[in-house]
Amino acid sequence: MKGIILAGGEGTRLSSLTKITSKQLLPVYDKPMIFYPLATLLKAGIKEILIIITPKHAGDFLCLLGSGKEFGAKFTYEIQDKPEGLAQAFVIGKDFISKDAVAMILGDNIFEDNFASAIKNFKKGGHIFAKEVIDPERFGVVKFNKDRKAIKIVEKPKKFLSNYAITGLYIFDNRVVEAAKKLKPSARGELEITDLHNWYLKKGELKVDLVKGEWIDMGTFDSLLKAGNWAKDQVEK
Ligand code: DAU
Repeated sequence: MKGIILAGGEGTRLSSLTKITSKQLLPVYDKPMIFYPLATLLKAGIKEILIIITPKHAGDFLCLLGSGKEFGAKFTYEIQDKPEGLAQAFVIGKDFISKDAVAMILGDNIFEDNFASAIKNFKKGGHIFAKEVIDPERFGVVKFNKDRKAIKIVEKPKKFLSNYAITGLYIFDNRVVEAAKKLKPSARGELEITDLHNWYLKKGELKVDLVKGEWIDMGTFDSLLKAGNWAKDQVEK
């Protein structure tokens, strides 16, 4: 299983914090933001990791993370020239992924859960993770039937669908590369990760589990502050 950390994007929702640096390099208590998703992949046993970054801040990421040796891992870097969507990561990463399965994590997501067994037991299809939230309109949202089977997935639904947000960790088999290549940009001009979820869902090959511990998408000022406080509590525990 290969790993990808998606750490591009413009971080416009966190402007002016992101005027001169990347969102994923911002401090979250005692560490740069990207250390948290990196730790999630490392704890899950993933050692070959592609880090996707913007041209503007590429040097800073290299300086911070280097070869990966310090983390007992091997890092590869690719540039995403423009923020053309989360699913583009699988097109940019096709040579790195090669013939393997891949777990992608968003560079602004903090997870408390350990995904080692999900990664170890993964065989085929897609495996994603949802969390009940009070503000589902900010996220990709999944609706379950009464047997807790996913039946519908919509990116940032305008009309209420459910309270289950799809978190930023996605495990896919190798077919994701071909599926991503065939995607067309959405109305907002992005290759949508939700379209990949639906590609697997239609085939009956998408597993959606619930995240048990804390999960924070650090894309807003309030969630960034919440993440900092959560990280402080973890250190002091
Ligand atoms: O955090 C979970 C949510 O992440 C999911 O529920 C949504 O389905 C998914 O679309 C995504 O929504 P966001 O609104 O949080 O996406 P955002 O544009 O903030 O991008 C997430 C991360 O990916 C962020 O660290 C920036 C990076 N990114 C984003 C885009 C669009 C890239 O590196 N390249 C891109 O092209």
